[in-house]
Amino acid sequence: MRARLERIYTFITGHEPPRPGRSEYKRVWTSLARKEREAKRWVQGTTDDETLDRTAASDLERFKRHLTFDADSDVLEIGCGVGRLGKVFAPCCRTWTGCDVSPNMLKHAQRRLAQFQNVRFVELSGYDLSPIPDNSLDVVYCTVVFMHLSEWDRYNYIVEARRVLKPGGQVYVDNMSLTTETGWQFFESARAIPPQSRPPMVGQTSTPQEFEAYFDRAGFTTRRIDIVDDAWVVGWGVK
Ligand SMILES: C[S@@+](CC[C@H](N)C(=O)[O-])C[C@H]1O[C@@H](n2cnc3c(N)ncnc32)[C@H](O)[C@@H]1O
Repeated sequence: MRARLERIYTFITGHEPPRPGRSEYKRVWTSLARKEREAKRWVQGTTDDETLDRTAASDLERFKRHLTFDADSDVLEIGCGVGRLGKVFAPCCRTWTGCDVSPNMLKHAQRRLAQFQNVRFVELSGYDLSPIPDNSLDVVYCTVVFMHLSEWDRYNYIVEARRVLKPGGQVYVDNMSLTTETGWQFFESARAIPPQSRPPMVGQTSTPQEFEAYFDRAGFTTRRIDIVDDAWVVGWGVK
């Protein structure tokens, strides 16, 4: 249907239809996640469930170097995709809330996590956590998402995370760091794409200084910014 409309647009105007902008997260990620196989590929570059489970288990260990949580914790993920991490978090916490801008991602996640009674799914606008009440969570984390967001929207999620955390609650965010060798290769691979052809979700790096500014401005007086595995910048803070 969309392809047909695009052909009609080109026929009438003589131009290619406008490409979605970087901030049109809902439009972009809803269309990327129509089929579960495509959604999985966009989440982790694989359609293989065993690989998704294995990477989730190793990511959980990485998070545990920063975050503390237990069977009484209420945990929320921003940009949960197909629920790759929900599958390993749900058995270790009281409730796990998977939030995403893409209703299609949430549909796949819901099916994949159907065996858990303590999970719920929330569709976001792409710019805030407005459906989530203040002071309601112990942990908010966001992984492999900031690279797809504009800086303002990254910061907004840190401000929002602080709002929804209970006093003493913790936030964890990450991105590829421009200051690392892996991050630089990541930067170069996007630079190699001709500017007019760069897709709206193309990955963009962060720096430790960027994260420091966000955490400080958002009011996290207890925070740590680390470089991990010579690739990632990780920001962790306590409300
Ligand atoms: C690369 S996937 C990572 C998924 C998941 N965090 C994981 O590691 O398995 C990026 C996810 O972020 C979601 N996303 C993109 N922009 C978003 C936004 N503005 N707000 C919330 N989610 C967003 C996408 O729909 C997608 O599910």
